[in-house]
Amino acid sequence: MSVRIAIVGAGIMGADHARIVSEDLPGAILQVVCDASSERARHVAESSGATDVATDPVETIRRNDVDAVLIASPDETHAPLSLAAIEAGKPVLCEKPLSQSSKECLGVIEAEVARGRQFVQLGFMRRFDPSYRSMKASLDDGSLGRPIMMHNFHRNVEAPANFTGQMAITNSAPHEFDVARFVLGADYSAISAFQPTGVDASQTGAPVFMVLETDKGQLVNIEINNNAAYGYDVRGELVGEKGSIFLNAPVSTRQNGALMAFERYAPDWRPRFAEAYRLQNKAFLHFVRTGEFPAGASDAWDGYCAALVAEAGVEALQKGERITIAGAEKPSLYNR
Ligand SMILES: NC(=O)c1ccc[n+]([C@@H]2O[C@H](COP(=O)([O-])OP(=O)(O)OC[C@H]3O[C@@H](n4cnc5c(N)ncnc54)[C@H](O)[C@@H]3O)[C@@H](O)[C@H]2O)c1
Repeated sequence: MSVRIAIVGAGIMGADHARIVSEDLPGAILQVVCDASSERARHVAESSGATDVATDPVETIRRNDVDAVLIASPDETHAPLSLAAIEAGKPVLCEKPLSQSSKECLGVIEAEVARGRQFVQLGFMRRFDPSYRSMKASLDDGSLGRPIMMHNFHRNVEAPANFTGQMAITNSAPHEFDVARFVLGADYSAISAFQPTGVDASQTGAPVFMVLETDKGQLVNIEINNNAAYGYDVRGELVGEKGSIFLNAPVSTRQNGALMAFERYAPDWRPRFAEAYRLQNKAFLHFVRTGEFPAGASDAWDGYCAALVAEAGVEALQKGERITIAGAEKPSLYNR
């Protein structure tokens, strides 16, 4: 029988997930599109062939004709709606971050532990990106030697108007916090955060440069620049004692002209990570069907770890100090 999926939040990401479910996920049906705006819900439902529309997310999650939920509403709704899904006993693919508060993440973890199983797969989709997977494979097969540093750049064309200064750390950087932790198989022990001089930290999309230390002694640096102007550009290089490996963005053409050769940048993250979103959602469907949490996917514990380092990053930037990071004890439910 087909898995009936409800999407909550029909904005940029919700519309993309709706397209993936309807075009690229055999065995899944887009049952309901729910958005606070009925107009947006209807628009996305019409373009993706969804059966129904709704405006109340909790009612939507509880519906008898919904088997699983995909949350793509704003950050502050993720933890409360994940809790509603756990209470309803339904698997949920929740967009990142799980919460901007590590305490709120612990609430989701407690709810899963109380029910004795995992429900929440988190939308840190870079874990499914073939270039990061290949990076991790080269580390795991020993060809890079011991990993010592990882460099990360995350650039957007223009920050959305609702972005505050610290959202570079609490909304954008969690992708890097999560994927570097995944690739290295390490946890963070400290973070320092810097901004170029003359930058107003409260300015929308002001760049931030972070240096993280792991419990295995590695250094991870992350540049977040949400007003990079020229294109969506994510780069990464992992440096080991025997070699290094860097990400190649999937581009299908290179143009020649005027004594130059050039490749085009995408205007946002969707083309760059299209395959990662597709593989992530396919893994979620398997999770819904089998109850087996997908190998390598990000879970509520990973969401907690990302929120913890983001909080420390904000503090490091505000105080101009290196902040040490110490997390809660990991419940055995998350030992995979
Ligand atoms: N995984 C990724 O690469 C990635 C990329 C971009 C955004 N995101 C995350 O996806 C989420 C959505 O981002 P977006 O860019 O699509 O935002 P958006 O503003 O385009 O869309 C959000 C939608 O949610 C609706 N909404 C708000 N509150 C709601 C509620 N309580 N119930 C139902 N609908 C509600 C809004 O009306 C809007 O249509 C954010 O949390 C963001 O961090 C993830």
